[in-house]
Amino acid sequence: AAIEKGGYDHFMLKEIFEQPQTIYDCLRGRLDAQAGTITMSGIQKYAEQISNANRIIIVACGTSWHAGLVAEYIFEELCRINVEVEYASEFRYRNPVINKGDVIIAISQSGETADTLVAIENAKAKGALILGVVNVVGSSIARISDAGAYTHAGPEIGVASTKAFTAQLAVLTMIALKIGYEKGTLDHDRYMQLLQELDAIPDKVTEVLRSKDNIQAIAEKYKDAKDALYLGRGYNFPVALEGALKLKEISYIHAEGYPAAEMKHGPIALVDEDLPVVFVATKDSYHEKVVSNMQEIKARKGKIIAVINEGDEQSSALAQDIITIPQADEIVAPMLSAIPMQLLAYYIGIAKGYDVDKPRNLAKSVTVE
Ligand code: G6P
Repeated sequence: AAIEKGGYDHFMLKEIFEQPQTIYDCLRGRLDAQAGTITMSGIQKYAEQISNANRIIIVACGTSWHAGLVAEYIFEELCRINVEVEYASEFRYRNPVINKGDVIIAISQSGETADTLVAIENAKAKGALILGVVNVVGSSIARISDAGAYTHAGPEIGVASTKAFTAQLAVLTMIALKIGYEKGTLDHDRYMQLLQELDAIPDKVTEVLRSKDNIQAIAEKYKDAKDALYLGRGYNFPVALEGALKLKEISYIHAEGYPAAEMKHGPIALVDEDLPVVFVATKDSYHEKVVSNMQEIKARKGKIIAVINEGDEQSSALAQDIITIPQADEIVAPMLSAIPMQLLAYYIGIAKGYDVDKPRNLAKSVTVE
């Protein structure tokens, strides 16, 4: 078993550290930043139909649903297509309106999640085009999809998803770049710039991973917290949700993820000197707004743990603890900001002595509803 874990203590840690490679594997053979091309054979045939779609509906569960939320922001920005993100379990039971020509993207690591599978079976019967963004080759969701793109992250053993999430983001970003460029909603310069940004991600992930000792020290400090709040805006809002989910799964600490501004409508009532508040606050078009949300938390004595870019003095002055990550365009930044979320949950989980690879009550793949 020690060999299987490649020298790491747990599969979860091994899989977190594999991410420079898994993202690279996912981009390899598809993205050519010099030539300015994205080759996705499964998607190509349907590129025109996707470009012309009135809307895209993304269905998924758990961490995959969070990847879908990031994709909503990216697709709307780059492709100007209306996107809805649905929990598969809700979507399948509520008699959703599906029109012929609607495009459904199913996101699933395992390709076997029962709710996601049935949701797309139903939508397919109503004439929707089904695209799968799946990790496990030949899985049920991959087989029932009309087309799709594999994430190529390799087997994920840890119950809490890590490397599958960043690979999903990489695939979804490539699809959006391809469609946006072909459609003309994404201009040449911005397209070329984003290809470079995406190409640079694996090396930047390596840099993020160098923060592991700092993150472990922060984990030790907050391991006895009863609750935690995770806040972010824009592309980093789903990352905040994912951070809270990781913490719940691995450390059994109650955590909530919220859009940073929405916390005024409830969660701010919980803020006191005992509440750690994780801000995902990298430099992007929302940054100023996020900083003012940090000020509001600080004024109520919340303990701020901020994930920020190097040199962001304004944010670091407000925070108790900081985790710095490399600067990246906001479209690709979630692949970086997700990593400290994973590491923080991991180190809190092990500091509490839990079996992080097999958290209680959870299953790697939920194949019954
Ligand atoms: C389970 C796993 C999660 C995963 C979710 C969706 O809850 O524990 O890690 O995100 O299922 O799984 P899928 O295989 O469809 O991505």
